[in-house]
Amino acid sequence: MSKYLVTGGAGFIGSHIVDALISAGHSVRVLDDLSTGQRVNLAHHGDAVELVVGDLRDMETVSRCFEGVRGVFHEAALPSVPRSVEDPLTCNAVNVDGSLNVFVAARDAGAKVVYAGSSSAYGDTEVLPKHEGMPVAPMSPYAAAKVATEQYLASFAKVYGMETVTLRYFNVFGPRQRNDSPYSGVIAKFCRNALQGETCRIEGDGLQSRDFTYVHDVARGNLLAMETALPGGTTMNLAGGDRISLLDMLDELEKLVGHKVERTHVDPRAGDVKHSQADARRAKELLGFTCEHTFASGLRETLDWYRESIGVTAVTPEKR
Ligand SMILES: NC(=O)c1ccc[n+]([C@@H]2O[C@H](COP(=O)([O-])OP(=O)(O)OC[C@H]3O[C@@H](n4cnc5c(N)ncnc54)[C@H](O)[C@@H]3O)[C@@H](O)[C@H]2O)c1
Repeated sequence: MSKYLVTGGAGFIGSHIVDALISAGHSVRVLDDLSTGQRVNLAHHGDAVELVVGDLRDMETVSRCFEGVRGVFHEAALPSVPRSVEDPLTCNAVNVDGSLNVFVAARDAGAKVVYAGSSSAYGDTEVLPKHEGMPVAPMSPYAAAKVATEQYLASFAKVYGMETVTLRYFNVFGPRQRNDSPYSGVIAKFCRNALQGETCRIEGDGLQSRDFTYVHDVARGNLLAMETALPGGTTMNLAGGDRISLLDMLDELEKLVGHKVERTHVDPRAGDVKHSQADARRAKELLGFTCEHTFASGLRETLDWYRESIGVTAVTPEKR
C-alpha cells in the first residue's frame, strides 16, 4: 500500500479520488485551500485522510506535502471559465504557476504525476469525436492554462524522465458537485431545480450535447492511470465516448423524479461549444478503461445524493 497526495482533494472530483484510494487501502494526504472545496467532502474518512489546508502557490507547503508520497493526483485548480475571463492573472497563478510548483516538487520527490486535464483543450471544433491527435485550440484563459499546464508536464517527462499522465476530462457529474459552477454544473443545477420544483433554464435550444461522465468512473480511471506503466507525457481523454443533449438529459431526469420538470429557454451562452464527445479509444487501449456507469445509472445516484443533501449538507459556499 502506498501514500498518495491529492491536490484539490476536498473538491468534487478530488474527493472521489480520495474515496477510491482509501477503498483500495492506500493512505492519502490532501492539499486544498478550500476555495471551492469543502471539509465536508472528506468528513466521512475521519482521521484516515490528512488534510493540509494550503495554497498551491506556496512552494514550501507544496514541497512538504510530498514527504513519503509515491504519486500525486493533481486536481487543484480554479476551474471556472467566466472567472478566468474576469481575472486571467489569478487563473494563471493558480492553474499554471501553482501546477509548476506541484511538478517541481514531484520531480524532487520522485513521484508520478496524474494530472486533471480538460476537453476545453480542443476548443470549438466541429470534429467529433475529439481525439488526442487533434490540435489544441483553447478558447478561454482557463483552457489556455489547462493546455499550458499539460504541456509543461509533458516537457517535465522529457527533460527529467518523470512518469506523467494527463487525463482530459469531459463533463464530469455526480455527488458533491457544486451547483454554482456556471461551466460544468448543469446536471447539479437541474437536479436541484427538479427536486425543488424550480424551472430549469436551458441556454439555447437544448440540443447541445455533452459527453457526461460519472465521477466514480473518472476516479477509477485516475487510479488505473497511476497504477499503469505508461510512457512519460502520455495524454488521453477520460470519458465514456457518448453524448446526450440537454433536452434528453431533462427527459431522463423527469423519469427519475417522477413528475414534470418545468423548462424555459434563455439566450445561448456566448462561446458555448455545441457538441462535445470524446474519442475514448486511447484510454481503453492503454488502461483498459471503459465507463461502468451508464448515464442513467449515474444520474440516479446523483439525484439520490442531492435529494439527501438538499437543506442538510453544504452545497452553498456559506455552509462550507
Ligand atoms: N468538473 C469537470 O467537469 C472538469 C472537466 C475538465 C477538467 N476538470 C478539472 O478537474 C479538476 C477538479 O475539478 P472539480 O470539478 O473537482 O473542481 P473543484 O472546484 O470541486 O475542485 C478544485 C479543488 O481545488 C482547490 N483549489 C483551488 N485553488 C487552490 C489553490 N490555490 N491551492 C490549493 N487548492 C486549491 C479547491 O478548493 C477545490 O477543492 C480541475 O483541475 C479542473 O480543471 C474538471
